[in-house]
Amino acid sequence: MLEPSLFSQLDLDGLLARERATSSFGARGAAAWDRRAARRNPRERDSSYSAALLERLDLKGISTALDIGCGTGNLAIPLALRLQHVVALDFSSEMLRHLRNNATAAAVSPEHLAVHQLAWADDWEAHLQPADLALCSRAMDFGDLRRCLRKMHRFARQRCVLVLHAGGSYLGPDVLRLLGRTVHPRADYIYAVAMLHQMGIRCGVSFLASTGGMVYDDVGEFVESVHWRIGDLAPEEVAKLHALFARLPRLPDGRVAYSHPFCWAILEWSIADTDLEAYARFAAFDGPPPPEPARDLTAPPTLPAPYPPFSPESSLP
Ligand SMILES: C[S@@+](CC[C@H](N)C(=O)[O-])C[C@H]1O[C@@H](n2cnc3c(N)ncnc32)[C@H](O)[C@@H]1O
Repeated sequence: MLEPSLFSQLDLDGLLARERATSSFGARGAAAWDRRAARRNPRERDSSYSAALLERLDLKGISTALDIGCGTGNLAIPLALRLQHVVALDFSSEMLRHLRNNATAAAVSPEHLAVHQLAWADDWEAHLQPADLALCSRAMDFGDLRRCLRKMHRFARQRCVLVLHAGGSYLGPDVLRLLGRTVHPRADYIYAVAMLHQMGIRCGVSFLASTGGMVYDDVGEFVESVHWRIGDLAPEEVAKLHALFARLPRLPDGRVAYSHPFCWAILEWSIADTDLEAYARFAAFDGPPPPEPARDLTAPPTLPAPYPPFSPESSLP
């Protein structure tokens, strides 16, 4: 019998929890996404990201899809126009309200698209069947990453596609430079790749560069958008953001556009290509994830002691 490798025993969950505890970018609850929904809706229709991702999706042999964290439907709706059936899931009622309106506008018939207000942490078994393709684009719950990866895997009959941020910041490099304070990175896609590897799931990784951003009516909206990412801003930081906003290009309708580059990691795996022995070893991680404690974004981050250097002796049972 093959011994489990040292890598398979690495406490990635603990490392990820430490990373998240110090990150300047907190997780958002459904109410925060509700407030964001109206702003994301027009933006997504113009985004180059959705078209580029849809072009990359391999839909050969796929008739049904589950879109987890579907937002306002920028992926679920085009998929529902191509596939037999799509289930769109999100915990934000406002996102789903926009999605329903967008689906009606795109003439998607209800038999091709079902919508469920569910969170990653909810019990899906009572509501959903596995689909040929499980897709989660930019909506993974890093608070319980391993369990969510397993859940996604369980709800896919053929393939999974998971899109995660590659890189530790959701702020543009100019805003980062401008703020001039230490911003602690957000947990990266590499945790998912490593956890999947530990679970015997072999994922392919490719990258997608896109330009993200929004259009703002006024400087208050722009400052609020930076605040949404990293919490409270000092008065001098707000002043710097005002100065940056004044230099941004103005659209013919008077609004101001701000965009910056993003790099997305696309993780794809086939259900058939799983090392079942390794997968079974992690079965203990199944079950309902614990509720995530609310984070106080206004409190300064507390830095943990540096992660101890990996030593094979200390990590072996
Ligand atoms: C950045 S948007 C992504 C929307 C779409 N998938 C895309 O790529 O454009 C993130 C979406 O995930 C949803 N979301 C975030 N955390 C979630 C959770 N724990 N359970 C369900 N939905 C969640 C939000 O409500 C939001 O609609």
